Amino acid sequence: MKNLTIDPERLWDDLMQTAKFGATPKGGICRLTLTDTDREVRDWFKARAQALGCAVTVDDMGCMFARREGQRNDVPPIAMGSHLDTQPTGGKFDGTLGVHAALEALATLHRAGYETFAPIEVVNWTNEEGSRFTPALIASGVFAGVFTRDWACAREDRDGETFGGALEKIGYRGPERCGDHRLSAFFEVHIEQGPNLEADGKDIGVVTGVQAMRWYEVTVTGQDSHAGTTPMPRRHDALVGAARLVETVDAIARKAGTAVGTVGLLEVKPGSPNVIPGEIYFTIDLRDPDAAMLDRLEAEIQAAAKRVESELGLAIAIKNIWMQGATQFDAGCIAAVRAAAKVSGYSTRDMISGAGHDAAYVSRVAPASMIFVPCKDGISHNEAESSSKEQCAAGAQVLLQAVLDYDRQLAERYGK
Ligand code: HGY
Ligand code: MN
Ligand code: MN
Repeated sequence: MKNLTIDPERLWDDLMQTAKFGATPKGGICRLTLTDTDREVRDWFKARAQALGCAVTVDDMGCMFARREGQRNDVPPIAMGSHLDTQPTGGKFDGTLGVHAALEALATLHRAGYETFAPIEVVNWTNEEGSRFTPALIASGVFAGVFTRDWACAREDRDGETFGGALEKIGYRGPERCGDHRLSAFFEVHIEQGPNLEADGKDIGVVTGVQAMRWYEVTVTGQDSHAGTTPMPRRHDALVGAARLVETVDAIARKAGTAVGTVGLLEVKPGSPNVIPGEIYFTIDLRDPDAAMLDRLEAEIQAAAKRVESELGLAIAIKNIWMQGATQFDAGCIAAVRAAAKVSGYSTRDMISGAGHDAAYVSRVAPASMIFVPCKDGISHNEAESSSKEQCAAGAQVLLQAVLDYDRQLAERYGK
């Protein structure tokens, strides 16, 4: 529908408005999942969706669904959306753009009085980031049947608060059973969070899939001891052991060429200047387009841990806490995105996502794909994360057109 166009000003104003929920002095957002700032932005989302005539439902993992009726409300909805939680030093666009682009696409239909064949829904997925409660994508993972809700609700943050407890506290544990909500399709707009679109000078990323990723928790146990009186040969310094493994993670990822390896969280115990650290906790994030490569990297890390254990007289436990295989998105959804970008006059390139997204799990239970827009210097998970009004608008416009294209496909399939 060439004449249906989103309003870039409205989209940008809304993005800047909700950026105040968890705003940081450096211009980013700290809106950890299931905190008061998350509750505030959820309240905003609900009020805005209702003002657009939507009915808003919440499931028992806190996922929010804003529904706009169509001609055939027995047909499962075409959904679009992303997440409103952020990293501790997140930016204004990771996740938030996807929810706002979806709201703006729905607002455009609402204002034009355009009736779709299928119902349309905007979704806010709980805890996409996995920063406060590991792993990432917990709610969309329950939605897709990857995690049980009991396992997910029992996940604890570093202060011992459970996911389920935090969900109750902010009043967003809904009555609907997460995963019972059937979808005809799901589309997610997101900043690329990498440098490729900007480097290639392309407007839109047609996302064909998501790379494989794994998270590990590592505990290195040595012996607390006096920094001044313990001779070097008699030490069991857990931090030195951890440091050798951190270096190994970086080195094997670089050697692999297509992989990335990151140690993002590291805690030292007891953490005193004159005590040799007796215990270290750290995380490992490994990713590669080919899951078999991750098997090889994991084996190399295990072997390195054995070596460090005998070199320094330590005990090293490596626990895999998350494993997501490579994702291939639905050909029909990819084609809808490609056609939408073309009819909207945007240049495109195909790509797989380096970042994890809710669409990856949703694609296990419904046809799905994603639409990327560039972000400045490819920077994300950083308060300086930035995308322009025009780039955000392009993503929302392509989303609107892709949903309408898919809606036409559904109407034909149901023989309307
Ligand atoms: O970790 C990720 O890839 C996502 O940004 N949560
Ligand atoms: Mn995200
Ligand atoms: Mn993120």
